[in-house]
Amino acid sequence: MGKTPSPRGGMMSRSITIEFDGAPHYVPEGITVIQAMWHLGHPMIRGIGCLNGVCGACTITMRSPSQGESRTALACQTMVEDSMSFTFLPPDASKKAITPLSAEVPDEKKLLHFYPETKRCVACQACTTICPQGIDVMGGVRAAINGEISAVAERFTSCVMCGLCSMVCDARIRPHRVGILARRLSVAAHPGSTEQLYVRIDEINTGRYKEEWERVMSS
Ligand code: SF4
Ligand code: SF4
Ligand code: FES
Repeated sequence: MGKTPSPRGGMMSRSITIEFDGAPHYVPEGITVIQAMWHLGHPMIRGIGCLNGVCGACTITMRSPSQGESRTALACQTMVEDSMSFTFLPPDASKKAITPLSAEVPDEKKLLHFYPETKRCVACQACTTICPQGIDVMGGVRAAINGEISAVAERFTSCVMCGLCSMVCDARIRPHRVGILARRLSVAAHPGSTEQLYVRIDEINTGRYKEEWERVMSS
C-alpha cells in the first residue's frame, strides 16, 4: 500500500490491493470497481451501460473483508476495498415473451401462459439470495404462480434486469422476465399512473434534452 502518483502531479489517495480474475493489482481507494478497471487499462466498453445502477449490465461476483462471504453486486455501484476480489459475470441471455399490451385488466393466467415453467419453483430461495437489489424474488415468483399480477409488479419495481436470478435457478425459471411482464401489464391496465411518462416523452420530442444528449454522445 502507499500513495499513487496523480496524472496531474501531486499524490492521489492511498493505493490498495484488489484481485481481479485471480490476479492482484494496485488501484487508488475511493473509486468504483468499474473505475478501477479503467485505471488498470481495461477499456470496459462492454458489460457496462448507465454507470448509475439502473441498467444491470455490470454484474460481478465478489468477496471482500468487510462483507465476508461471496456475493453478487453491480460494479458501477461498488467501491473497491483493500483485499477484495471480484470477477465479472456474463450477460443475461434469457428469452423474453413478446406480447402486445392492452388497457384491459390482464387475465391472471397471463404470466403463466408466457412463462409456464414458473410453476416449477421449488422455493429454494437462490434467486432471492443472489439479487443485488435485495428483491424478494422468490416471493414475486410465488405471487406469479398465484396469478397476483399487481403483487408481482410491485415486488420487481426496483429490478434492474441483470438476470442473475435466472442464472441461478435450477428450475430454469426467468423471474425477472416474469416481473417485467407483470410491470408492463399493470401499467398498460392503469394508464393514468403513467402521466409523468407522457410529460417526459413530450419533453424529449420537443427537444428539451437535445443539447445534453449531443454532449453525452460526443464525449
Ligand atoms: S431459484 Fe428458481 S426454484 Fe428457487 S426459489 Fe427462485 S424461482 Fe423458485
Ligand atoms: S430480480 Fe433478478 S434481474 Fe432483477 S435485479 Fe434481482 S437478480 Fe437482477
Ligand atoms: S453500468 Fe448500469 S448498472 Fe452498472
